[in-house]
Amino acid sequence: MTTAAIASNFTWVPQAAAIAREAGARLREFYAQGVETEYKGDVDLVTIADRTSEKLIRARLSEVFPEHGIYGEEGTRDRLDAEFRWYIDPLDGTTNFAHGFPQFCVSMGLEQRPFGLKQGEDGTLVAGIIYDPLRDELFATERGKGAWLNNKPMHASRTPVLAESLVATGFPSRKRHASPNIHFYQEFTLRSHGVRRAGSAALDLAYVAAGRMEAFWEFNLNPWDTAAGILLVEEAGGRVTDFAGKPFRLASDEILASNGRIHDELLGFFADMFAGRDLAPIPTAAEWAAQRAAALKS
Ligand code: IPD
Ligand code: CA
Ligand code: CA
Repeated sequence: MTTAAIASNFTWVPQAAAIAREAGARLREFYAQGVETEYKGDVDLVTIADRTSEKLIRARLSEVFPEHGIYGEEGTRDRLDAEFRWYIDPLDGTTNFAHGFPQFCVSMGLEQRPFGLKQGEDGTLVAGIIYDPLRDELFATERGKGAWLNNKPMHASRTPVLAESLVATGFPSRKRHASPNIHFYQEFTLRSHGVRRAGSAALDLAYVAAGRMEAFWEFNLNPWDTAAGILLVEEAGGRVTDFAGKPFRLASDEILASNGRIHDELLGFFADMFAGRDLAPIPTAAEWAAQRAAALKS
């Protein structure tokens, strides 16, 4: 399909992509000049770039789609009874951004909500845009129209087993002490080609859709992190569920996205982990130090 044909085939992506690119250009400027950081929680960072990007996206979306609702990470709650609702992460990867680590994006997911749906109930995801302004990569999709990277079709990978997979995860910036994810990190490290923890959940999902990684999992994400990426993964031929294999819901505390081919293997692995089966013992730092001391003596 030509670029022109793709554009005419989409309903929302062309305008939304233009907005994501404009917000991304602002993020690039802030990134180049450097910004001060504030704390939302003990390590949960926010900057003027997050707020400026959300303000811009909110204003532009309200011009282009005046009847659509908007639900943004930095507090926007507009028209939440509307049939269409945008989930906006104006800067996914704020910690990276604040440290000058080049991995962050704008994420915009569109949900269609049948009339009468209660708050907290899911509608249908119908469009998603994730824009990486430093690499100028635009990941875009609409339901039933495939997944696209800079106007070229993209597909999840065909790797059939976890042992040959590259996977990704992330760690929450709130209530970190309550997360069991380090155990999963360890086990996935032992069973795959490696685990990446690059600090942008939306880009992690986009990379699964693009076939750059086979899977991504995380605890406690929010709809603005996941809405666009879920549809990208599904439209690229992948699968997204919770850790028990149930359909993913936007309010879910668990996300498991994969190329589809390794999904059942991953679900079996999660079941084993939660049941405490097959865990490889890890030496504690003290045990390792004792072994080292013993080796030095001998
Ligand atoms: C964070 C990133 C990170 C994930 C965190 C998110 P933010 O989003 O997506 O990869 O591990 O759980 O909160 O705060 O940079 O928008
Ligand atoms: Ca985020
Ligand atoms: Ca954010």
